[in-house]
Amino acid sequence: MHKIKDLLQKSYLQKEDILFLLQTEGEEKQLLFEKAREIRLKYSGNKVYFRGLVEYSNICAKNCYYCGIRRDNKKINRYTMSDEEVLATAKYAYDNNFMSLVLQGGELSSRAFVDKISDLLDKIMKISNNSLGITLSFGEQSEETFHKWNEKGVRRYLLRIESSNRALYEKIHPKDALHSYSERIKHIHLLRKTGYQVGSGVMIGLPFQSIEDLADDLLFFREMDIDMLGMGPYVEHEDTPLFEYQSSLWSKEKRMDMTLKMLAILRIMMKDINMAATTAMQSIDARGREKAMYVSANVMMPNLTPLKYREGYLLYNNKPGVKEQIEDSLEGMEAQIKAAGCAVGYGEWGDSKHFKKRQKND
Ligand code: 5AD
Ligand code: SF4
Repeated sequence: MHKIKDLLQKSYLQKEDILFLLQTEGEEKQLLFEKAREIRLKYSGNKVYFRGLVEYSNICAKNCYYCGIRRDNKKINRYTMSDEEVLATAKYAYDNNFMSLVLQGGELSSRAFVDKISDLLDKIMKISNNSLGITLSFGEQSEETFHKWNEKGVRRYLLRIESSNRALYEKIHPKDALHSYSERIKHIHLLRKTGYQVGSGVMIGLPFQSIEDLADDLLFFREMDIDMLGMGPYVEHEDTPLFEYQSSLWSKEKRMDMTLKMLAILRIMMKDINMAATTAMQSIDARGREKAMYVSANVMMPNLTPLKYREGYLLYNNKPGVKEQIEDSLEGMEAQIKAAGCAVGYGEWGDSKHFKKRQKND
């Protein structure tokens, strides 16, 4: 008990400290969670910010071994939302005071795709009087494209590293130029250079992943000085190559527990970054997001994708919200936020405080 109390007083955690904290159980684990909550309340208050999530298209040029919408999965119907559908979600977010929209989709880099997104950005800005904060998540793009979208008013970009261990990264992706670990890292740096608030993240409980890998993931986030975090448990999908390792996975309870410990430890390491309570947590635990918010998370992403497309965006099994109406899930989310002792930050952008601070220092 002495050791944990001393550790939780430290302002700079070393790898051995992180390894110890990742393996806490019972009362020690509760102390870790309480410490993270205390820091979160002190640095960012109890607000949780909504980002309306738009799953724009499930067409993807990549073939990640874990993902249900990978290029070679022939079992799904591919879709791309129409301009009207995207604008309706933007209007919904604007009318409901969300202030922020996340456009996410498979990774494509054709000129036509880049121009389409640029055009949509113009239209979204127009209908929201330039007031919606837009986050993009369309994978690795060229420097020119990152600049172009940034000039259109996009301030935030999400690009998960998936795993910071190069060997593990190479096990869960095909070995080709399209799935290069070094390129991934280069693109995260490029986002920062372009001026974005940079979000990254990993999956927790992947086949072949060790506790040490998870400790290294946390050190990676600190090293990269990220502004936003979106991380969640790995959830197997039966139509993907990684499914064959399903029997070697940690139980869902353990993956959830480890995700919470990862969030709590990172909150201690990076006090003022934004952290999302992700859908993957909800898919393995009915109170997953609530637990994440209690411990550390201050961002939630209500899914605004039209219901008819949701079946087409199943990255993993049991993804929740496939049959829900947005209003239902919005109510549900408000209830979860309340149950976690937090409040919705309506009408606020909820930018990463970390980003603001680093901008001043740069
Ligand atoms: N389990 C959990 N998360 C997944 N993602 C993709 N497939 C899975 C899966 N099977 C996550 C990846 C990706 C994000 C869009 O979804 O981390 O970056
Ligand atoms: Fe495409 Fe992203 Fe899925 Fe990889 S994780 S296959 S890049 S959508």
